[in-house]
Amino acid sequence: MSTKTTLGILGLGTVGTGVVKLLRDNPQFEIRAIAVRDKNKQREVDLADFHVTDNAFELADDPNIEVIVEVAGGIGQVHEVVKRAIKNGKHIITANKEMIAKHGPEIFEAANKHNVTVFFEAAVGGGIPLISTMQRGLQANRISKVAGIVNGTTNYILTMMEQEKKPFAEALREAQAKGYAEADPTDDIEGNDVVYKIAILASLAFQSPVEVGKIYKQGITQISDLDIQLANEFGYRIKMIGLAQPVGDTGKIDVRAHPMLVPLHHPLAGIEGVNNAIFINGSAVGEVMLSGPGAGQFPTASAVVGDIFNLASALKLPDFARYFQPAMNSTTCDVCPIEETTNAYYIRLETLDVPGVIGHLGLACGEHGVSLLGLVQKGVTDEGVATIVLLTHQVKESQLQAALGDIRRQLTTKEIPVVLRVLR
Ligand SMILES: NC(=O)c1ccc[n+]([C@@H]2O[C@H](COP(=O)([O-])OP(=O)(O)OC[C@H]3O[C@@H](n4cnc5c(N)ncnc54)[C@H](OP(=O)(O)O)[C@@H]3O)[C@@H](O)[C@H]2O)c1
Repeated sequence: MSTKTTLGILGLGTVGTGVVKLLRDNPQFEIRAIAVRDKNKQREVDLADFHVTDNAFELADDPNIEVIVEVAGGIGQVHEVVKRAIKNGKHIITANKEMIAKHGPEIFEAANKHNVTVFFEAAVGGGIPLISTMQRGLQANRISKVAGIVNGTTNYILTMMEQEKKPFAEALREAQAKGYAEADPTDDIEGNDVVYKIAILASLAFQSPVEVGKIYKQGITQISDLDIQLANEFGYRIKMIGLAQPVGDTGKIDVRAHPMLVPLHHPLAGIEGVNNAIFINGSAVGEVMLSGPGAGQFPTASAVVGDIFNLASALKLPDFARYFQPAMNSTTCDVCPIEETTNAYYIRLETLDVPGVIGHLGLACGEHGVSLLGLVQKGVTDEGVATIVLLTHQVKESQLQAALGDIRRQLTTKEIPVVLRVLR
């Protein structure tokens, strides 16, 4: 076998191309093969020197490849290739949050069994060295909270909606044109991407796998420019947030992915564009905030190539593989249902502009123990429909939902288009 570390690159899109550009002239590594879906596609890098295949299993079966760099994304065949590569004794470096969030425990178990390791620095936070910080830098700590902006696409859209006063659809189109959002943006704008990432962070923080299906999610598609403006007037900025924290000593973990009103003075409010920022609260260190580019060719390739260097150094040591695997219990986290969580809320509703409406709203809230912090009425349409915004104090989600149920049944209520949580 060559003295160089031999790599098989699975995927040559945004990230894979960055990885090849960063590594191709590095004498420490040899790219033995690159797998793509379509061999005839025009590429940004010259592939004349490389073996290119459209059969990714070739990489998993090639005895001359030590490390598979999986930068293809998705599950299905890619997951099968990774499983086969592990079985064949190959180490894995992946940027694939969906695969790690949904199949991490089974992948780590297989890796332990075959004495190989799986690195996934680029799966959360793009270029920010977040996973290694959580896995190694913060080992002395009991983590009490992880929260932050982990999706660059939605942060870019929300930033554009506020700064350029663009409606959601236009901000999304611009994100797509700039390559920040995919042609099918569902995973980003409906919150799935944040679910995957917060599942990974929560399982590292609390050392138990988190089932993605149990994580509450809300996307950003209902948020209008009016909400952005009203949030500003109340002293907040709307951000898509992933959050994970234990619920007292119940043994449950509150894990969720949804937009929140963040106070303007909070550091997360200042994170703009495709940047990400994550707060970690540790028992010894206190609060740590990591921020930086959450996506993009070179920032993400920086994280992948960092993993490749770490692995190459470790390859010189005997029996190192288990050292890098996340410490994880076999039982999954007990995820707290959203109804049991406590939050402050922003509620935008549309009502008939008739006497007594405010009183009815106040009564419904009071009936269920929802205490109001603020209420404003914003204009009335020609059809006599008023927009009213309520801000609440902290209250249990189940009580809020009961109050909203009553409000929905009031004859004066037309619609409750938006309910958002407020970061306190
Ligand atoms: N883009 C970012 O900023 C970013 C940031 C953080 C993490 N990530 C993660 O990095 C991974 C790659 O993202 P990307 O943006 O680089 O994706 P991308 O631009 O869509 O590229 C995907 C690449 O994988 C290849 N591919 C897909 N399925 C394959 C298969 N079954 N067999 C062989 N090749 C296959 C595609 O081949 P063709 O070119 O022939 O279609 C393409 O080259 C994903 O897991 C993503 O979540 C991306």
